[in-house]
Amino acid sequence: MRKFILAAASVAALTFVGPASAQSPIVIKFSHVVASDTPKGKAADKFKELAEKYTAGKVKVEVYPNSTLYKDKEELEALQLGAVQMLAPSNSKFGPIGIKEFEVFDLPYILPDLKTLRKVTDGPLGARLLKLLDNKGMTGLAYWDNGFKQMTANKKLVAPSDYKGLKFRIQSSKVLEAQFRALGAIPQVMAFSEVYQALQTGVVDGQENTWSNIYTQKMHEVQKFATTTNHGYIGYVVVVNKKFWDGLPADVRDQLSKAMKEATEFGNGQSAKENEDALADIKKAGKTEIVSLTPEQDEAMRKAMMPVYKDVASRVGQPLIDEFLKETDRSPMN
Ligand code: LMR
Repeated sequence: MRKFILAAASVAALTFVGPASAQSPIVIKFSHVVASDTPKGKAADKFKELAEKYTAGKVKVEVYPNSTLYKDKEELEALQLGAVQMLAPSNSKFGPIGIKEFEVFDLPYILPDLKTLRKVTDGPLGARLLKLLDNKGMTGLAYWDNGFKQMTANKKLVAPSDYKGLKFRIQSSKVLEAQFRALGAIPQVMAFSEVYQALQTGVVDGQENTWSNIYTQKMHEVQKFATTTNHGYIGYVVVVNKKFWDGLPADVRDQLSKAMKEATEFGNGQSAKENEDALADIKKAGKTEIVSLTPEQDEAMRKAMMPVYKDVASRVGQPLIDEFLKETDRSPMN
């Protein structure tokens, strides 16, 4: 696949014609791994619509959903090489390219709701994190929401001890690895596009994801139980190839920034509802039992996962974790 990315990158370099002319619109390939009918899919389609409208056709945005172009790690390499121009990977996926700090968003129970999240992403910490992308050949344009994660498995998951010995698919984040180890489970990194089959064939026993991702990937059809835990957050960093972005005519960049701002408001304004709707659809499908936790069971889960904060402090950075908690003005235990 690396060979293919390199080949695609050189074609992209040859065909990039600089400022747009009437005959040759500037093409933005926007690759992502989820279905179109999800918070990220809809925000990407909205960006396409607005970008093409505001640039009056000078820019054409091609959205490639569902890993049709690249899988998780490949898409970041492809962006760095210029084979695609735009992506929105989850915060959990930047570790393998050497940016560990976004994994702070993966800490269990670090965010109680999206309003609190916004304090971080719209504040100085959010801006500083985006700046880290610069020396990796990317520019961070926005934070997009998905929502809160739930646990699924073929076993009913209520107490921390229920996780013991089970294999869970995780995204490529060391924080998520530590989280499942804290529960006595066995984490296994796997690309998003491979999860359904891995669950179906028993390569892994369970996984964590948002209701919208669970529903649109049909995971509920191959998992007997889903527990409403809301124990973690999935959100995205919209990134663009820095060379491409800096090389755009200033007026086009301004129009695209405006389109991005509005697509972000649109997407983030409806992500919670999309996850609620997906949960309703999962219930309607009747293939997986939805398990709720009592306040005592919820507390036991929080307690079991708290060692993760210490386990990953040296990786993510204790000062960063402290600053995050200070900005959100809370403790993950409640
Ligand atoms: C996952 O890999 O589980 C998610 O990050 C996929 C996504 O982009 O929402």
